[in-house]
Amino acid sequence: MKIATTIAEVRAQVREWKQQGLTVGLVPTMGYLHEGHASLVKTSVQQCDRTVASVFLNPTQFGPGEDLETYPRDFEHDCALLTECGCDMVFHPEVSEMYPDGFATFVEVQSEMPRQLCGKTRPIHFRGVCTVVSKLFNIVTPDKAFFGQKDAQQLAIIRRMVLDLSMGIEIVGCPIIREADGLAKSSRNTYLSAEERKAALVLSRAVKLGQELVRNGEKNADAIVNAMRALIEQEPLARIDYVSAVDGLTMLPVHEINGGELIAMAVYIGKTRLIDNFSVEG
Ligand code: PAJ
Repeated sequence: MKIATTIAEVRAQVREWKQQGLTVGLVPTMGYLHEGHASLVKTSVQQCDRTVASVFLNPTQFGPGEDLETYPRDFEHDCALLTECGCDMVFHPEVSEMYPDGFATFVEVQSEMPRQLCGKTRPIHFRGVCTVVSKLFNIVTPDKAFFGQKDAQQLAIIRRMVLDLSMGIEIVGCPIIREADGLAKSSRNTYLSAEERKAALVLSRAVKLGQELVRNGEKNADAIVNAMRALIEQEPLARIDYVSAVDGLTMLPVHEINGGELIAMAVYIGKTRLIDNFSVEG
C-alpha cells in the first residue's frame, strides 16, 4: 500500500489510475482504525478498482473542550489494517497540508439538518466535516465514497452536500459494525474504563429495545424514545445528551413512525460521549 502525505502525490497516483480506466473508491477516516472502518474499506475494494483511505484527524470538526488533543492515534496499526483489507493508498497529510496559512473557506449545509441531534451540542462539527470531506473529494476525485451508518447524521448531511453541490460522487452507506456484545465499534471506546465499558452496553440495549417496539408495531415515536430513555436512565454511569426520532432525510423531529425514520442517541458514559442509532425501514 502506498502512503501519501501530500495532495500532489495523491493527485499523481489517481491520475495514473484514471488514465488506465480504473474506478476509485474513497474511505475518509480520522484513524485509530477498527473493524467498522475495515468494513468500509472492504466494501470499497469490492466495488471499485482502486481504494484510497484517508487518515486525518480533522481539527475543524472539533469544538473547544472536545477531545482533539486526546483522540487516539496509531498510524502504524492503521496501515497494517488497511493493507490487510486491500487498500491501495492511504492519504495521511499534516494539518498544514489540508489547512494552508490564511485558510478561510468552509462548506456548510444551511438548513436545520446540521443543527439537530449532534449539532445541538456540537454547533461547528458538521461544518468541519463537510469542509474536510469536500477537500478530500476534490483531492481524490473518487467515483464512490463510503461512510458508516454509525454516524447517520453525518451520512445524511454528506448526501445533501453532494446533491446540492453537484459533486457527482456516489455515496455508499455501510451498516454499523458492533462488538460481540452489541457495543458499536468506535475509536472512542478506548477511553472507557472496564466499568464504563460494561455501562456502555446500555446504548445498544436501547437500540434493541427501540427496534423491538417498532417490530411490534409501535407507531408513536415519542413512546419509543421515552422507553429507550427510561432504559438508559437506569444506568448510573450514563447521562443522556439526546435520544430522538427524526426524519431520515431532513433530520427534523417526527412523532409518528411511518418508515424512513432515524432513531438516534448520544449518551455520555462518564466523560466519553458515545452515539448509536437505528433506521426504520421505509
Ligand atoms: P471516523 O470517526 O474515523 O469514521 C470514519 C468512517 O467510519 C465514518 O464513515 C464512520 O461512520 C465509519 N464508522 C465508524 N465506526 C463505525 C462502525 N462501528 N460501523 C460502521 N462504520 C463505522 O467520521 C469520521 O471519522 C470523520 O467525521 C470524517 C468523515 C473522516 C471527516 O473527518
